Amino acid sequence: DRMPALLRAMPKAELHMHIEGSLEPELMFALAKRNSVPLRFPSEQALRDAYVFNNLQEFLDIYHEGTMVLKTEQDFYDMTCAYLAKAQADNVLHTEIFFDTQTHTGHGLSAETVINGLYRACADAPAKFGMTASLILCFLRHLSEEEAFECLEQALPLRDKIVGIGLASSEVGHPPEKFAKVYARARELGFRLVAHAGEEAPPAYIWSALDVLKVERIDHGVQAIHDAALMQRLAADKMPLTVCPLSNLKLRVFPTLAQHNIGTMLDAGIMATVNSDDPAYFGGYLNENFTQTFAALGLSAQHAYALARNSFDASFIDASLRQKYA
Ligand code: HPA
Ligand code: ZN
Repeated sequence: DRMPALLRAMPKAELHMHIEGSLEPELMFALAKRNSVPLRFPSEQALRDAYVFNNLQEFLDIYHEGTMVLKTEQDFYDMTCAYLAKAQADNVLHTEIFFDTQTHTGHGLSAETVINGLYRACADAPAKFGMTASLILCFLRHLSEEEAFECLEQALPLRDKIVGIGLASSEVGHPPEKFAKVYARARELGFRLVAHAGEEAPPAYIWSALDVLKVERIDHGVQAIHDAALMQRLAADKMPLTVCPLSNLKLRVFPTLAQHNIGTMLDAGIMATVNSDDPAYFGGYLNENFTQTFAALGLSAQHAYALARNSFDASFIDASLRQKYA
């Protein structure tokens, strides 16, 4: 079977990963020590053993706990470099990295500490890792729209370090409409727009991400399968979906990878991509998502080329750079 080798060697872009979700237990323990932050787990293995989730919220609780070790600009730089090294090993040529400022400002850090640390790693990416990297600031949807406005305000002095705005955290009960005004403002400011929608919540959340927030990509979007009109809309508009198969498996969106719908989505003409979401928690980086998904679903080389092509076409790489990947 030559598929795993093809998938690994294939140049690709990653469009959906949360940098805080790339914090491996080894680095978490090292940062806990460096910053004198207590951890309730006695060992890295004990922490890893706790990575068993029944849904998104159970994951978010432990993910949030892990972010407590992040204190300095250097911590954010080191965490990002560790991810970029993994991405380079997976033949990722370009990555768009989610981060949530509010998690860290909620722990008393400044937005500058967070954004400057992340950005310095992205700026070093071409020379250090032979790839490009940009940043997408995600609002936490379990918090209020007023708090999202505050977060946007704090990021504005660092406007040039951020390519886009996203929406993450607890989905059900926090529909896109809640953030209509702050997305309209972000649009005026020239940010590219994405939002998590249809990971656990119904197709209505995808419709409103498109029609109310006016996003350019849907993160996850797998629940669209339950709405034929929405499937047609996504295909007709070539609306990218940033699908995260191992995340969906670990958070029990699908009972097994063999039941994942990404093959059906591609065959329906939807512009799906493969991504790792929170690779330290969900059992693998980008190539692991590709190889396990292809093995479970029996996807073809045509599917592989389509996914690679989609990843660049759906990216926010500027036109001059895009030539290089055509
Ligand atoms: N879904 C929603 N919010 C998140 C996720 C996710 O998979 N990872 C980090 N924040
Ligand atoms: Zn995500």
